[in-house]
Amino acid sequence: ATAPKDWDRPLEGKVAVVTGAARGIGATIAEVLSRDGAHVICADIPAAGEALAETANKVKGTSFPLDVSADDAGAKLAEHALERHGGIDIIVNNAGITRDKLLANMDAARWDSVIAVNLIAPQQLVNGLIEKGALKEGGAVIDVSSIAGIAGNRGQTNYGASKAGVIGLVDTYAPILAEKGVTINAVAPGFIETKMTAAIPVATREAGRLMSSLQQGGQTVDVAETVAYFANPASSAITGNVVRVCGQGFL
Ligand code: NAI
Repeated sequence: ATAPKDWDRPLEGKVAVVTGAARGIGATIAEVLSRDGAHVICADIPAAGEALAETANKVKGTSFPLDVSADDAGAKLAEHALERHGGIDIIVNNAGITRDKLLANMDAARWDSVIAVNLIAPQQLVNGLIEKGALKEGGAVIDVSSIAGIAGNRGQTNYGASKAGVIGLVDTYAPILAEKGVTINAVAPGFIETKMTAAIPVATREAGRLMSSLQQGGQTVDVAETVAYFANPASSAITGNVVRVCGQGFL
């Protein structure tokens, strides 16, 4: 590992991109990486508009409207980063969606959209950056998986499969990226209080909180600080890991 020059601002001089940065876990990740000294490119769907601009202002970063599931998302991000910043050191694949239904009612559209945003996009973005030479040596890729990708969750076959796929991505990419001096790790949050989980009916939400081994839901900062650890040059010997945050499993 490489000790940061300044322990208070270990990411000074680094450029990070956080997808899904307009709100929730992504917005807090942007804040924490910025506190640690990084310039943060805050990416989210164009419809996120004001909220995305707010996060970018708060972290003194830049906003970049980007639908991560678009075919050219990786190339667009790479071109933007090369032009403005000479490349990217840290990419946090946080953007994610749920389209829950019990398996019998799980139509192809729900399945495909969740796989496209949660699983294909994190791979395409990294590939796009590598192809254009935009991912810098010594960099870090951090993917946001979920406890649902480890333990499964009723009504979330599509989501659980996408998040389990992310863990497969991390395992497969770790040795490939190591050749470029880049680490890749994942966080697997349990139940975190955000707009995503606010959409869950109250009784299910309460049950979800209690099923965590900590018997409570977590906060966005719990996830963000774990992401910051993987972004820190002091963790550059750590790759191919999945860290559960706020809970061991749903059951
Ligand atoms: P959220 O719904 O509050 O925020 C997600 C953000 O991603 C939104 O700003 C949304 O506009 C953006 N996004 C969605 N599709 C996008 C696309 N195609 N391109 C770019 N941006 C897109 O969700 P939350 O709770 O903050 O979740 C963040 C990540 O954490 C997701 O990957 C989610 O699956 C994961 N997660 C969340 C948990 C929770 O309990 N809240 C638990 C485990 C994982």
